[in-house]
Amino acid sequence: MRVLGIETSCDETGVAIYDTEQGLLSHALFSQIDMHARYGGVVPELASRDHIRRIVPLIQEVLEGARTHSKEIGGIAYTEGPGLIGALLVGVSVARSLAWTWQIPSVGVHHMEGHLLACMLEEEPPEFPFVTLLVSGGHTQLVKVDGVGQYQILGESLDDAVGEAFDKTAKLLGLPYPGGPAVEKIALEGDPGRYDFPRPMVNRPGLDFSFSGLKTFARNTWESAEKDHQSKADIACAFSEAVFDTLFIKCKRAFKETGIQNLVVAGGVSANKQLRERFKKLDSKVYYPRPEFCTDNGAMIAYAGSLRLMAGERKGLAFQAQPRWMMESLGAINKFQGISYRL
Ligand code: KG4
Ligand code: ZN
Repeated sequence: MRVLGIETSCDETGVAIYDTEQGLLSHALFSQIDMHARYGGVVPELASRDHIRRIVPLIQEVLEGARTHSKEIGGIAYTEGPGLIGALLVGVSVARSLAWTWQIPSVGVHHMEGHLLACMLEEEPPEFPFVTLLVSGGHTQLVKVDGVGQYQILGESLDDAVGEAFDKTAKLLGLPYPGGPAVEKIALEGDPGRYDFPRPMVNRPGLDFSFSGLKTFARNTWESAEKDHQSKADIACAFSEAVFDTLFIKCKRAFKETGIQNLVVAGGVSANKQLRERFKKLDSKVYYPRPEFCTDNGAMIAYAGSLRLMAGERKGLAFQAQPRWMMESLGAINKFQGISYRL
């Protein structure tokens, strides 16, 4: 089956075509970063309007890229949630309308399931079961993954998500949006020994996280520092180290709790090279999506949706988006239903 995937949950319009026999055929992305950067963060109304402008040309682009006629598309997968309601509704409306016009099935995909399965598009994908660390702009979760749709949340952030903490720390340091890549870049010039940031919640049992205190620590440190480039770099470096060290400690704890040693790290923050370097010290195999599939993209939605479509999942005619949606409520897809998770 050839599946068109559509992602519009936030500030990236992502479209892709995944073929269940041939793999990923094409993908295209339009990032709204330049538009939102001047406001220091995502403006939801502008995001929705821009998705409307970009989505149809991007669909045409991936069809051409995959040398595919619309008649060859057997199903459509779109992000149903979680995300910004207006942005989601653009993808939902276009996907559902095309599915109705082309008389093919469609399915709504959970955005975080998309991130979680993105590494399946790589040459060496992980085997189930594995532990996943999801680190994006809206979520920080440790998930035990027994199979597609078989997710147990082991722990999550009680306040800011990791990406959000990066974005807020960048903002207070006067760095551009999105904060993650900006903090990563300047942290390279930082002296890791100058500031000692706390590792939140590591002395408490359990696998939950809290990052809002770290952001406040960064603010207080910046307020009492000389406002020069070096202080900025030193704070960015100490902040990043504290975040990655905390994630590292909790992942080790998750291995102990589950008895599973395989780790998948996904979501925007997993693109960070300092995180990847730190995680090399884990005594286990760590899998990542390629950097362009760490952040939002259509390929992960096309892939996750293709599994659900092949398993017979279908959406009705209603245009439905779910800005809040628990990943644990998703249905399991059994590999014995004759579906192969990868090629
Ligand atoms: O997964 P994603 O594209 O969107 C959501 O689902 O939220 O993640 C975006 C988040 C942003 O907060 C961004 O600052 C962060 O991921 N991010 C990074 C890096 N690249 C993106 N954080 C740290 N280092 C990076 N290289
Ligand atoms: Zn995302």
